[in-house]
Amino acid sequence: MVNMLRLPIRAFSSLPQLPKTSFEPGPYQGPTAEEISFIRQSNVTPILKPLYQKPLMLHQGHMQWLYDNKGKRYLDMFGGICTVSVGHCHPKITEAVINQFNKLGHVSSLYHHPKLFEYSKRLAEKMPGDLKVVYLLNSGSEANDLAILLARLYTGHTEILSLKNCYHGMSYQTMGLTSVGHYKYSVAPPTGFHTVMNPDVFRGPWGGSKCRDSPSQTSRECSCESEECKAGHEYISVLKNEFRSVVPAGKLAAFFAESIQGVGGTVQFPENYIKEAYRIVKENNGLFISDEVQTGFGRTGEHFWGFEGHGIIPDVVTMAKGIGNGFPLAAVVTTKEISEALTKAAHFNTFGGGPIASTIGLAVLDIIEEEKLQENSLSVGTYLLTELAKMKERTPYIGDVRGKGLMIGVEMVENNKNLTSIAPGKFSIFLEKCKDMGLLVGAGGYDKNVVRIKPPMCITREDADFTLSVMEKALKYID
Ligand SMILES: Cc1ncc(COP(=O)(O)O)c(C=O)c1O
Repeated sequence: MVNMLRLPIRAFSSLPQLPKTSFEPGPYQGPTAEEISFIRQSNVTPILKPLYQKPLMLHQGHMQWLYDNKGKRYLDMFGGICTVSVGHCHPKITEAVINQFNKLGHVSSLYHHPKLFEYSKRLAEKMPGDLKVVYLLNSGSEANDLAILLARLYTGHTEILSLKNCYHGMSYQTMGLTSVGHYKYSVAPPTGFHTVMNPDVFRGPWGGSKCRDSPSQTSRECSCESEECKAGHEYISVLKNEFRSVVPAGKLAAFFAESIQGVGGTVQFPENYIKEAYRIVKENNGLFISDEVQTGFGRTGEHFWGFEGHGIIPDVVTMAKGIGNGFPLAAVVTTKEISEALTKAAHFNTFGGGPIASTIGLAVLDIIEEEKLQENSLSVGTYLLTELAKMKERTPYIGDVRGKGLMIGVEMVENNKNLTSIAPGKFSIFLEKCKDMGLLVGAGGYDKNVVRIKPPMCITREDADFTLSVMEKALKYID
């Protein structure tokens, strides 16, 4: 235990102060850190890898706050990896779950229960165009697996394209889509999957200072006139070539894209890229599948769905994470016509759309509307992005700031003149210092050098100011 009395007052007063809350957590009553460590080594899969050198033991949450076993409070700016959308243990969800559990916890979809239908209708109402048929599942990987099957059944084609640096899950098939090296195993890959050049305007061969739909642009030079985006044209011509080389003419099953890449480090594409890619997909008779696992449910601020920011209506949309605020809930939404392809055999999911999951889905939609969380994502997110872009100008360690709403990435580099990714040791010092000061942020990107900020959408401007102060202070420790 640190002797607080012997530390100089200055050490405390100069640290950023967490915004106040009236919430009081209960005491920690679980196993000790030593017991946890023993169980981890004896009984838990070795692939479970905590983010911090000394694992953080979290036992309680309330809205944007998390509490560790010693009662220390943290501002959660990572939201359980972009998953806690409306706030930890939101009282409205807790109440709805208790009420539902007192009535009915589980029946399979062999029977009707009202919540699956109420929720499917509500979710369909949030979708544009003919996207009106919902299949409820449990995870993002499962949703993307089903979307792959749907596309192949509907089109009769096998080939599937996705972008390099994308993450679509870790089931065997979705590993074929996912294209981030440290998520690749040395096993025979599933067949029919191809990845194409990522239109990354910060790291890629082309990019300028007007490419992104974001308050923050790269520092690259740009000679484009108003509406044109030369980088976008270049990436599209590469895509056309990739189609020629890997897709039998006119015989694509599907093209998958996140609206903004999440795990890959909040990578945004040039503004017209997705619209053009959609056109090429249609020329090749394939389905365009938008993975909204991270970008859905208002997170990008301007729109409820990330794909709306690209001006397209996809054929299939997959969603998970924020849809259930941390409860296993996922969905595939498509048109009636495409959904019929699945009826060629039986398809079943034990838990998908169960009474509890559907109850939570309904409550999440209510809360996003009642508490105007999409609007909050836009205003607090735009403020954070604008201030982070200014911070980039004050430090050599920030190479790029990007994103939309509360889907933000800060790419850290050794030196913003040559853009070498920051050394892993320095990046982990940054993360540790943020944590010590009460701020939780995530890591992403090929080199795991991108700070990922994807908090519950209930955060306030005060929380954003705290985040900025802590990050600025933590940067000093890596000097
Ligand atoms: C964009 C995207 N798609 C799919 C997935 C897979 O979701 P899950 O982990 O629920 O299987 C993730 C997970 O991080 C994701 O970020």
